[in-house]
Amino acid sequence: MPVLKREQARDVGDPSGLPKLPVPPLQQTLDMYLKCMSHLIPEEQFKKTKPIVEKFGAPGGMGEFLQKKLLERSEHKANWVYDYWLEDMYLSNRLALPVNSSPVMVFPKQNFRSQSDTLRFAAHLISGVLEYKSLIDGRALPVDYARGQLAGTPLCMDQYNKVFTSYRLPGPKIDTLVAQKSTVMPEPEHIIVACKNQFFVLDAVINFRRLNEKDLYTQLERIRKMADIEEERLPPIGLLTSDGRTQWAEARSVLIKDSTNRDSLDMIERCLCLVCLDEPSGTELTDTNRALLMLHGGRTDKNGGNRWYDKPMQFVIGADGCCGVVCEHSPFEGIVLVQCSEYLLRYMRGSPSKLVRAASMSELPAPRRLRWKCSPDIQAFLTASADKLQRLVKNLDMNVNKFTGYGKEFIKKQKMSPDAYIQVALQFTFYRCHGRLVPTYESASIRRFQEGRVDNIRSSTPEALAFVKAMANSSKITDAEKMELLWTAIKAQTKYTILAITGMAIDNHLLGLREIAKELKLEKPELFSDTTYATSIHFILSTSQVPTTEEMFCCYGPVVPNGYGACYNPQTDHIIFCVSSFRESAETSSDLFVKTLEGCLKEMQDLCIKGNTEAKPTDSTEKMDGNTKVMKNGSKS
Ligand code: COA
Repeated sequence: MPVLKREQARDVGDPSGLPKLPVPPLQQTLDMYLKCMSHLIPEEQFKKTKPIVEKFGAPGGMGEFLQKKLLERSEHKANWVYDYWLEDMYLSNRLALPVNSSPVMVFPKQNFRSQSDTLRFAAHLISGVLEYKSLIDGRALPVDYARGQLAGTPLCMDQYNKVFTSYRLPGPKIDTLVAQKSTVMPEPEHIIVACKNQFFVLDAVINFRRLNEKDLYTQLERIRKMADIEEERLPPIGLLTSDGRTQWAEARSVLIKDSTNRDSLDMIERCLCLVCLDEPSGTELTDTNRALLMLHGGRTDKNGGNRWYDKPMQFVIGADGCCGVVCEHSPFEGIVLVQCSEYLLRYMRGSPSKLVRAASMSELPAPRRLRWKCSPDIQAFLTASADKLQRLVKNLDMNVNKFTGYGKEFIKKQKMSPDAYIQVALQFTFYRCHGRLVPTYESASIRRFQEGRVDNIRSSTPEALAFVKAMANSSKITDAEKMELLWTAIKAQTKYTILAITGMAIDNHLLGLREIAKELKLEKPELFSDTTYATSIHFILSTSQVPTTEEMFCCYGPVVPNGYGACYNPQTDHIIFCVSSFRESAETSSDLFVKTLEGCLKEMQDLCIKGNTEAKPTDSTEKMDGNTKVMKNGSKS
């Protein structure tokens, strides 16, 4: 297996000094594709797929031609897959952003005793946002370094530049990720405050001076009062952004015919971020309920319309203490969202509110309410969007569970990668719930490369299947054999992880081959019209590790109607699992999945404890050695 040599791939012309993402060897990808799918599809189907893949990869065949074209592309692009990936993963996806696409970060529950407590929190948070933004603008954020597998490598910082400057513009067929280019004299920066489904412009810079916390508080108080005036309330236009992308694009094209609407849209599209001051939800604020409220805002008569989903960062501050961030995912990954959120929580803890000491600006211009002209057509769009959001709210089945049996420390003590172990546990759980394994997505960061985003670790390995089958047939197989199978599954998972983070996984590569054929207006290669390919990208299990060092957790919805979203946050002595699915699917149940997962994690722990006494490998470090050697220096030993 060829592994990237850092020096070989380094692009000397790139200021970040990071290497370019390599294009994996064609044959390696095709072999892995067959290996990844062979045990997930019926034998008959595999028999049809194998010759299709072989034909594609034959000498002088279509695969070789497309590979050559991809290699050429990689020479003149900083990252050969970036545009293809962005379109495929996000921009051409027509599903509504809430639940289906936008992950959320749930903050610790706050105890606001009064409205001024809430506004004080909001002013403090906005102060932190402005600080963080100036760090990004001044290129003063410390460079992130990889942790865990292949630790120590610097990571690409590009994604940070997009946190407060991007906007996802809906389009009839495909969206556009608009980026505001920073100029020498940036125009005044503003935040949009959503309150009671109304949108207000809060200038963060007035007369070249950044507003201090006291000023921000004063402005927020004024906004709150303006939002309370019932006669001035306008329809909840934000609901349109919660609709399918094509529907929202259509509604937007009607909306912009009016100049008032155009001006309002322009203010929202150019803002730094949104701060959504939510009404009390009226529900008990359990972890699960807070996750639900962040994901969709509750019913449309609650805070569902108090959002603008196209903007990457929406800080939600509920009067009942339910707080967090909703993130439009196309400009950056969850890890960047975590970094920003953690900075803010630390800022708020470490820098006491400066409301009392700061001198307020004498005459602050009043914040402005954004106006909308709603034609009957827009009213009809709003009714349709509200219905759709209501259905999404009813449909989402969420379970946030803190597994307290053990955490990553126990797993490390077994000399296993915690991430690989958790992935195997998720496979075990799926098997126990459904009696089979399915194509699984685990995000693997490729930020070691220029403009790197993610590739996929296909965790439903044949080795994982062998292990989960053995666990299911518990009486016939000895613990020592099961332990051996667990080691094999963990090794396979760790090996795939390393391939993925070094740019050698198969999903981006196959996507590149498919898209370059399209770009060259060639007939779609049979490999991509084959049923197996469609199955391979229907990710029934969509998983992601999003670890935090502050008390908070990330969650998201499933990516297919009959699937699960499973986000996990491993801590020293516990693991937070956020499992989502859709109630409309008869196949799935988040509660059942979580309950089963707890059992599977316990069984795996028992096995490890027994394995350590009965079937301890001669040297457990050696068990992982094949990987460790690749891991340490990034090249095959
Ligand atoms: N024995 C003992 N300890 C081990 C071990 C072993 N065999 N293997 C790993 N560990 C340790 C690591 O050193 C690390 O230690 P640390 O906590 O001190 O840093 C820890 O266990 C975690 O390592 P591991 O569980 O292997 O995972 P990882 O941190 O390498 O993460 C990925 C793996 C795939 C999750 C990570 O590479 C990645 O890509 N993360 C980004 C995911 C992402 O983008 N999420 C957001 C999507 S929106």
